[in-house]
Amino acid sequence: MLGQLLHLAGIDAVIIERKSRDYVLGRIRAGVLERGLVDLMGQAGVDARMKAEGFVHDGTLIGYDGDMFRIDFARHTDATVMVYGQTEVTRDLYAARGATGGDTRFEVDNVIICDANTDAPYVTFDQGGKSHRIDCDFVAGCDGFHGVSRKTIPDAVRTDYEKVYPFGWLGVLSETPPVNDELIYANSDRGFALCSMRNAQLSRYYIQCDTADSPENWSDDAFWDELRRRIPAEAAETLITGPSIEKSIAPLRSFVTEPMRWGRLFLCGDAAHIVPPTGAKGLNTAASDVHYLNQGLRQYYAEGDNNGIDTYSQKALARVWKTQRFSWWFSNLMHHYPGQTDFDKKMQLAELAFLRDSPEAQAAMALNYVGLPY
Ligand code: PHB
Repeated sequence: MLGQLLHLAGIDAVIIERKSRDYVLGRIRAGVLERGLVDLMGQAGVDARMKAEGFVHDGTLIGYDGDMFRIDFARHTDATVMVYGQTEVTRDLYAARGATGGDTRFEVDNVIICDANTDAPYVTFDQGGKSHRIDCDFVAGCDGFHGVSRKTIPDAVRTDYEKVYPFGWLGVLSETPPVNDELIYANSDRGFALCSMRNAQLSRYYIQCDTADSPENWSDDAFWDELRRRIPAEAAETLITGPSIEKSIAPLRSFVTEPMRWGRLFLCGDAAHIVPPTGAKGLNTAASDVHYLNQGLRQYYAEGDNNGIDTYSQKALARVWKTQRFSWWFSNLMHHYPGQTDFDKKMQLAELAFLRDSPEAQAAMALNYVGLPY
C-alpha cells in the first residue's frame, strides 16, 4: 500500500519480500476494513473490486449468556466497515503494482538494514544466489513482527511493551454461507467464538482454544459442535457446516515498540505493534501507519519539509495505543480466562449488560470498531 501511494506521488520505492507471491496470496488473514483503510484503497486507486465484491456492514452482534444484542455503527457514527479479505487487498495491490511496473523482489533472504541512522542508508539481501545492495533515502520497515526492521533499532533506544494472552484462536474457513449477514462475537462459559465471513459462500469461524492446542486435534465435526455450543441458540440452529478448507491456530498478543523511527528507518504495522485479533485491528493499524508515513514522505519530497517524518512516530503511536486499548478491552470482555473466578465472570457479564443497555457505551464501542480518525 505504501509503495503504491508513493508511486502515485512520483516517489520510487523498491519492495523486498521474503516469501513468494503465491505464499503471500495463499494466507488467510482477517477481513474487516475500517473506513480509513477503505479511503486509502481509493487513494491508491485499487478500490474497484472491493467496492464491487466487498460487503458494507453497519453493525455487529454480540452474544452472551444466551442473549444477543447489536451495536449499530450507523446510529453512533457516520461510518461503516467493509468486509473484504486482507488477502484480496494484497491481491489488488499486487495487480496495481504489476500494472505500474513497480519494482518488487520476492523470495529474498538475509536482509540487513545498514547505516539507518546516517544520511545514506542501504539495504543488502540475497536473491537467487546473488547478493544485492540498494542505496536509498529511507527504509520503511513493513516486515512484520518477526522481521529484521525492529531488531535493527538498538535495544538501548527502544522500549517494548507486551502482553501475552493465555489462549489462542482456532480458525476455520469453509465454503458455506455465513450463519448471519453481520459478524457475531460470542462470550460463552466454554470460551469465545466468532462468526465471520469472506463472501456469500465463504465463512470464517473462530473458537478460543488452548495455546498448546493444535489444529490436528480438531476434526471438522468437533469444531462445528464446539462452535454451536458457544454461539447464541438462534445462530447455532441455522449454522450450515461443511468441510474446512483451512484450519489454523493463532496466538493472542498485545505488543508495542517505541519509538517507531530510528534515523531513516520507519517501522510500520506488525514490525512495531501486534494486537489480539478481537476487533480485527491488525491490518487497520498498519494502514494508519502507512497513512502517516505516506504524508510525511510526500511533504519531505514535495516541500523539503521534515515535519511529517519527524512527527511520524509520535502521530502513529498516539493512534496505535488507542487501538491497543480497544483490542485489549474487547479481548478481556469476550474470552474465558483460565483460573477466572466467579467474581471475574460476573464483572464480564455486568460489562456486557452495560454495553447492551447503554447507548453511550455502544457509541464508544462503535467509534472504535469503525476506526478512530487518522
Ligand atoms: C475475520 O473475518 O477473520 C475476523 C473478523 C473479525 C475479527 C477478527 C477476524 O474481529
